[in-house]
Order: sequence, then structure tokens, then C-alpha cells
Amino acid sequence: MEEKDPTAVNIRDLSMDDYNDLIRLWQAAGLPSRPHGRDSREAIARQMEGGTSIFLGAEEDGKLVGAVLGTHDGRKGWINRIAVHPAHRRRGIGRALVYAVEARLHGMGIGIIGSLIEDWNEDSMAFFARLGYLAHTDIVYFSKRRSPET
Ligand SMILES: CC(C)(COP(=O)(O)OP(=O)(O)OC[C@H]1O[C@@H](n2cnc3c(N)ncnc32)[C@H](O)[C@@H]1OP(=O)(O)O)[C@@H](O)C(=O)NCCC(=O)NCCS
Repeated sequence: MEEKDPTAVNIRDLSMDDYNDLIRLWQAAGLPSRPHGRDSREAIARQMEGGTSIFLGAEEDGKLVGAVLGTHDGRKGWINRIAVHPAHRRRGIGRALVYAVEARLHGMGIGIIGSLIEDWNEDSMAFFARLGYLAHTDIVYFSKRRSPET
């Protein structure tokens, strides 16, 4: 079978110049964002500068068509907010973004990478399973927030 060619997209680090496009992409991809909390301009700037976040974008013809956020806590890596614009799905762009962020995390000495996926998000679960991620049905996610926007 012929290999899908994601090389039409350019994968690069995002900067604060991409902030508006990133928020627009998340909206188009159906990902909720917290404009007054952890997705505010100030919060994203802080994350970009913090050294534990990798913001990558996939660009085609100068337009942001996909993005991913990789993070790590020094022990494990996490893939967050993978998003491909609906008009550009099933072309291997999501896969290329995940592989790129995995390579960056591996380069930082991180050997295990996870992703938290809401149980209704079957598309995303199928995507991660296809990329070799194992579903842990025996783990329940607990969290504590300072505010609903956090
Ligand atoms: C999940 C998402 C990023 C996938 O992006 P994509 O660019 O379409 O994915 P790819 O084309 O790289 O697909 C990689 C593999 O996953 C499979 N896949 C992708 N979407 C799938 C789906 N909805 N159902 C089943 N398999 C799927 C592809 O078939 C492909 O496998 P193959 O190479 O064997 O054909 C995209 O659907 C999206 O942005 N969803 C909305 C945002 C979201 O929910 N993000 C996750 C938050 S945790």
C-alpha cells in the first residue's frame, strides 16, 4: 500500500505570533478552550517559556492546519490538544504531529508518553490506538482545580 505523504505540511515550533491561529484551530477542531484560564494569551506565553511544553504546528500554504502540545514533568510525557482542521483530516497530519512531539520528548530523556482522552471521544481513541498507544481502562483520572477556568 502506498504510504501517506504528510510532507506537504511543514511542522514547526509555534510562537506567540501563532496564538490567534492556534485558538481558531482549536475552535475549528471542536476542542474547547479556556480563554480566561490556561489558554489565555498570558498563560500560553508562560507555558511556551517554561521549558516543559512543546507547541508544534503543521502548516500548509502558510495556514495552520494542525497543532499539538507536548508536555513533560521530568518523568512522563503527555500529548495534549492534538488538533487537525476538519478539512485536512485523514491525511496523516495528526500522525506526523504525534511522531514529531514524541521525537522531541524522547530527545529530552522521556521514555513514556501518555494522553488523557475523554471517554466520548471515540475518534481520538481510535487515532491513538492506531499510533500504538495502549488504552488503560483501569485508571480513573482525579483532578483538583483552583477555579473552573484553570
Ligand atoms: C484525532 C485527530 C487529531 C486525527 O488527526 P488526523 O490528521 O485525521 O489523523 P491521521 O490522518 O494522522 O490518522 C492517523 C491514523 O489514525 C487513524 N484515524 C484517524 N482518525 C480516525 C478516526 N476518527 N477513526 C478511526 N481511525 C482514525 C487513521 O486512519 C490513521 O491510520 P492509518 O494510517 O492506518 O490509516 C483529528 O481527528 C482531530 O483533530 N480531532 C478533533 C480534536 C480532538 O478530539 N483531539 C484529541 C484531544 S485528546
